[in-house]
Amino acid sequence: MDASKKIILIIGGTGMLGKPVAQQLKADGFNVRLLVRNPEKAKKFLGEGYELVQGDVDNLASVRAALTGVDGVHISLKGGPTEADFERMDHFAVRDISQIAKEKNVGRVTLISAYAVSEEKADTPESRSKVKGEAALKFSGVPYTIFRCSWFMETLPLFVQGKNISLIGNQVHLLHWIAVEDYARMVSKSYQTDETLNKELYIFGPEAHTMSEAMKIYAEHSGVRVSPMSTQMLAVLGALTFNTEWKGMSVLMKHYEKWGEDGSPEEANRLLGAPRVTLKEWCETHC
Ligand SMILES: NC(=O)c1ccc[n+]([C@@H]2O[C@H](COP(=O)([O-])OP(=O)(O)OC[C@H]3O[C@@H](n4cnc5c(N)ncnc54)[C@H](OP(=O)(O)O)[C@@H]3O)[C@@H](O)[C@H]2O)c1
Repeated sequence: MDASKKIILIIGGTGMLGKPVAQQLKADGFNVRLLVRNPEKAKKFLGEGYELVQGDVDNLASVRAALTGVDGVHISLKGGPTEADFERMDHFAVRDISQIAKEKNVGRVTLISAYAVSEEKADTPESRSKVKGEAALKFSGVPYTIFRCSWFMETLPLFVQGKNISLIGNQVHLLHWIAVEDYARMVSKSYQTDETLNKELYIFGPEAHTMSEAMKIYAEHSGVRVSPMSTQMLAVLGALTFNTEWKGMSVLMKHYEKWGEDGSPEEANRLLGAPRVTLKEWCETHC
């Protein structure tokens, strides 16, 4: 794809993992359009240089309008914490966008997904909806690339509360923590070759650490203390305080207690260039 003439739509481009993709595509010379719920807010957040289309994935007319004339669409939505909302965002929205993209002959749909998304591991509402979303994308017949990402380094600060970083559950698996800047570079690169079409690519960072090790590295750089908590305790706290986010987090972390990484990043690294940023380097600049 010659970047300068191509329009890529991003749905979820104001999100934690969508914004860096928008910025990287723009830096690489693509024309970047975003479907956003609030264009004024998005303009303040993203700055100049993006085409903003007001809309919502629940409003298919707006999705159709945003998809008009684009060469590709990147989906970076987030559902939850209720089962209905995971279905709405991770399944139905992905299905609808893919079907409309197919109708409009869009060249490709790219989708962020996670390493533990498979039939075998679909033991939570979120993972079940993501499995269905991936299947709907493939079924639509539009060319696609699915990015099965490991844990993002950028999620570590989200576990910080005051002076503590919460290590939730017994997280024994080694995880290849990925920096969003590496991921964004790889997504943008994927639009520059047809070799990435109709593939699931595993996006794993350069080094593996358990969650406990990763939190210790983060803690050393940011001065917080790692504070362990069981998934059961978080579920009880969530129920007692009617905090659906905590209840959802306990379900998520139980899922990750069980499932480690099992894909291979070899193909993604060969086609898109291997990720470079280590967790220690990331902490040195971000903590
Ligand atoms: N965290 C990880 O380590 C990890 C790993 C692999 C995969 N993932 C997946 O990555 C995805 C993105 O995560 P994130 O943290 O970037 O999410 P996020 O920050 O919550 O971003 C979600 C985006 O979706 C947009 N959005 C929400 N509802 C919408 C609607 N009805 N219509 C149109 N746009 C809507 C939001 O726009 P507004 O600005 O309007 O709210 C925002 O731009 C999730 O599915 C997550 O599961 C995460």
